[in-house]
Amino acid sequence: MRLEVERLTLGYGRRTILAEASLEPLPGGAITALIGPNGAGKSTLLRGLAGLLPARGSVRLDGEEMAGQSLERRARSIAYMPQSLPQGVALTVMEALVGALKASPTAEGMPSARAAAERALALLERLGIAELALVGLDRLSGGQRQLAGLAQALVRRPRVLLLDEPTSALDLRHQLGVMRLVRELTLQHGLVTVLVVHDLALAARFADRVVMIGEGRVRAQGTPEETLTPAMLAEVYGVSARVERCSHGHLQVLADAPL
Ligand SMILES: Nc1ncnc2c1ncn2[C@@H]1O[C@H](COP(=O)(O)OP(=O)(O)OP(=O)(O)O)[C@@H](O)[C@H]1O
Ligand SMILES: [Mg+2]
Repeated sequence: MRLEVERLTLGYGRRTILAEASLEPLPGGAITALIGPNGAGKSTLLRGLAGLLPARGSVRLDGEEMAGQSLERRARSIAYMPQSLPQGVALTVMEALVGALKASPTAEGMPSARAAAERALALLERLGIAELALVGLDRLSGGQRQLAGLAQALVRRPRVLLLDEPTSALDLRHQLGVMRLVRELTLQHGLVTVLVVHDLALAARFADRVVMIGEGRVRAQGTPEETLTPAMLAEVYGVSARVERCSHGHLQVLADAPL
């Protein structure tokens, strides 16, 4: 599995947000973190990869051009979790998961009703929210909604997993739990995983690659060590920051002051 993005231009109406973005090939079995300031274009890029925006340029999955493909065709291999989940959905968590499976059958075809329910429940157990299976989405807390949204993306067993800030509403334990699960699934199934995250320590610890977006351009890409440098943080985020290793050897980003 391999996702290649070349000279991708995306925008809304006539306004271009991301111009000619090219990424080094994103390999299967690896997590790529999209980072960058508010309004930089991270969500726009993720939507573009999901095929939800008109685009110029090329997005190829295993050599196959996705640009002209129907959403239904793309949905067979790609799962996308938006930054904010739609409100006012009168479904239980379980109904939403089974619905997600029915709405977009994956490469393996449509599971039976029983298999779908079992798969959904097993996933909720892995996310530690099995007790919420029969609760309405509108009655969940912010973090619980986010976990349910993640379950909706994962339940279809995609080959490409696109997650827009999957941990932004989660407590410390759930942040680690989710990142660990995403890493396990990515490795186990060779997924191409791209996620947006503001927490640079999480990015450094769990991502194999980091793509830093600033003002609609790719400003840096590479390993966390290569991209998370004081110079880049100053240039792209406008902060003076230290990048240090903690006592466990993990990279830490300490932002000291806005520049
Ligand atoms: N639906 C939309 N219609 C028009 N413009 C949009 C739309 N969504 C985003 N934009 C604009 O595109 C630019 C990039 O937005 P985007 O959502 O990609 O930022 P982001 O990097 O995800 O930021 P954040 O960290 O705040 O989520 C912003 O200037 C924003 O105003
Ligand atoms: Mg965003």
